Amino acid sequence: MRFVVTGAAGFIGSHLTDALLAQDHDVVAIDCFTDYYDPALKEDNAAAFDVARLDLAADELALDGFDGVFHLAGQPGVRSFGAVFDDYVRRNLVATQRVFESAARSGVRVVFASSSSVYGDAERYPTPEDARASPVSPYGITKLGCEQLASAYAKSFRLEAVVLRYFTVYGPRQRPDMALARVVDALARGASFELYGDGLQSRSFTYVADVVAATIAGMERAPVGALYNVGGGVEATMRDAIATLERVSGRTLDVVEKPTAAGDVRRTAADTGRIERELGWRAQTALADGLQAQWEWASVRVAAP
Ligand SMILES: NC(=O)c1ccc[n+]([C@@H]2O[C@H](COP(=O)([O-])OP(=O)(O)OC[C@H]3O[C@@H](n4cnc5c(N)ncnc54)[C@H](O)[C@@H]3O)[C@@H](O)[C@H]2O)c1
Repeated sequence: MRFVVTGAAGFIGSHLTDALLAQDHDVVAIDCFTDYYDPALKEDNAAAFDVARLDLAADELALDGFDGVFHLAGQPGVRSFGAVFDDYVRRNLVATQRVFESAARSGVRVVFASSSSVYGDAERYPTPEDARASPVSPYGITKLGCEQLASAYAKSFRLEAVVLRYFTVYGPRQRPDMALARVVDALARGASFELYGDGLQSRSFTYVADVVAATIAGMERAPVGALYNVGGGVEATMRDAIATLERVSGRTLDVVEKPTAAGDVRRTAADTGRIERELGWRAQTALADGLQAQWEWASVRVAAP
């Protein structure tokens, strides 16, 4: 089949593109290499395929003849208050609206990468999809806006959209701003790690290969208009994850405690009953195994000249 992957040089998009190519699909990979983090890392992520450099917030996206678009391009990160808000509006809302326009015009299915951040401090845990969305970061607000654009385009222009709410994704190539990537980097370099809050904040950490499998399943067999949580099976605190990484690496982390950062939620916990029932997907990777893979990947990079 012929697919477009947006955000293909990013952390998750590059794994998705690698997986689709390994399954012998035709893939047009798109990314504009934003400088949110070092674009050289994105060049490495996308080493195995060509990337078309399009800015989806400005350039035309022609989708005739494709079987689907995986729309992962966006501005991630919950530290989204202040002057950076413009980037969130442009790279999430504006870019996504334009992708939905093109997809609706060409009758092409879109799988959209949304986020557990739309729940904010959720009304219940584990959180099912029908819990009230109440984001506490501008990032989460723009992602919720994108979800609502998907519904509006579905209603008025028959857009065929599937929305996936990813819960904290980790593994090799994880974005360097994310907490586990910073822990791994600090362990590998013998540097200190700044922990925001008391470390008892918890997440449904989700291994990237599991996220890729859910994303492809969403394209292949989700009903039109479906909305799913994509979350790892087990909730862990930051302290648990740090302890696991210390065990895996055989090193001790030098932790510097900092106050909780604005936009961070205390807890995420995915109820994944719906995606299990409807798509037969469930996270397969234990946290210790996923962190082992991330550690091995990162420690080789740090050791490289
Ligand atoms: N990593 C997570 O834990 C997580 C959790 C929930 C949701 N998500 C969402 O999943 C998607 C992928 O996340 P990631 O962690 O791989 O982030 P990432 O930053 O590594 O990848 C996103 C990519 O999109 C590209 N991009 C941004 N704006 C663009 C534009 N206007 N045109 C073309 N390309 C553009 C960036 O250059 C980047 O390479 C994002 O939409 C993110 O919000 C990620």
